[in-house]
Amino acid sequence: MDRIRISGGRPLNGEIDIVGAKNAALPLMAASLLTPESLTLKNLPSVADIHAMANLLSELGVQTEHDAESRTVVMHGGNVTETTAPYDIVRKMRASVLVLGPLLARFGKARVSLPGGCAIGTRPVDLHLKALEQMGAEIELAGGYIDAKVNGRLKGTHILFPSVTVGGTENILMAATLADGETVIANAAREPEVTDLARCLQAMGAEISGIGSDTLHVVGKPQLHAAVHGIVPDRIETGTYAVAAAITGGDVLLRGAQMGSNEAVFGHMMRAGVDVTETAEGIRIARQNGRIHGVDVMTEPYPGFPTDMQAQFMALLTLAEGASMITESIFENRFMHVPELMRMGADINVHGASAIVRGVPKLSGAPVMATDLRASVSLVLAGLAAEGVTDVNRVYHLDRGYEKIEQKLAACGAEIERVPE
Ligand code: UD1
Repeated sequence: MDRIRISGGRPLNGEIDIVGAKNAALPLMAASLLTPESLTLKNLPSVADIHAMANLLSELGVQTEHDAESRTVVMHGGNVTETTAPYDIVRKMRASVLVLGPLLARFGKARVSLPGGCAIGTRPVDLHLKALEQMGAEIELAGGYIDAKVNGRLKGTHILFPSVTVGGTENILMAATLADGETVIANAAREPEVTDLARCLQAMGAEISGIGSDTLHVVGKPQLHAAVHGIVPDRIETGTYAVAAAITGGDVLLRGAQMGSNEAVFGHMMRAGVDVTETAEGIRIARQNGRIHGVDVMTEPYPGFPTDMQAQFMALLTLAEGASMITESIFENRFMHVPELMRMGADINVHGASAIVRGVPKLSGAPVMATDLRASVSLVLAGLAAEGVTDVNRVYHLDRGYEKIEQKLAACGAEIERVPE
């Protein structure tokens, strides 16, 4: 298995292009199942999860034309023949469950493998299923599969999510666009990726109001139509490279990045002593003077601090002056990067959902590995700042969500390479 090898200690200077958001692209691709006409997405990132979703859609009968150079995919859902999302695909990517709502809404049936556990917790889909049942679906769990069917169309209803779920909101939002009558989704996730999906669905003819708020109103239509949609820039890629610039004491322009969707992360960065400047081309991140200051972080649903930036921010805070408390409130098991950062010299103490990070003056390179995407990239970030060589194993996690990560970092002066096994 490939490794990423980093010789740390070089400040990053230059420019990094931010691509479209993976977590917006995945539900947007699933939305192609809602219409017999074409859905064109622009600014598509080229990462393994996107290829997995394209693969799943083509198994279902969606015809896709992907032009990697122009980052455009055209999807035609006119000849969907299959309504089963098989175990072999779903087990590799939990977001496969996003085909459930669209398939059920358009074809009246769907069979989707249960995603099961994953490295960052049990992550059930019970809230997706309960909401679909409220809309009139009959759901059975058998043989590791979700078997869902509905007589005629799903029915609009009032859904109150007991806790905020991004995927749940997306699944129900998509299903509601083709339901009979009005669906109200209360305590909806407000993540920018949900907003992006809602805008695309509007372009496809859906009637949605309350976009960006925690209550979405959807008036179902018998059919949606063709649309062209540009995917929002990836706020997690943005935040990750912002940490790369800050942790190395560099100066990097994140081209195409937006301030609006990243206020929690940039706010914490500024409090930690990092310069964050909005320019016409993107966001410039610089740290030229002095060490990072410790800051407390608590992950929360949007607009709070994103759980998908927790590991990267922890890497930054390992080198801070003073202590920081990081509390993870979304997932119950999202500190797998802690023992690995400690092997690099970090001083971290975990108590339940909180980690106390006492800043150390330096990290030292080590062979490390992690069990999920964001934990893996936090080790790359630590490696960029550490003295000596860091080998990050299990690179496939990084490839799930970061496009050309080693090229992007190397172009800014990092000494980083992919070492094939
Ligand atoms: C999405 C993101 C993921 C991010 C997460 C939280 C994608 C493809 N993935 O994941 O990167 O970390 O949002 O911002 O966009 N839960 C239940 N029952 C459910 C659904 C969720 O208990 O039916 C729990 C989960 O276990 C978790 C919490 O709710 O503790 C939030 O999960 P959710 O927002 O649904 O995350 P995902 O949509 O899976």
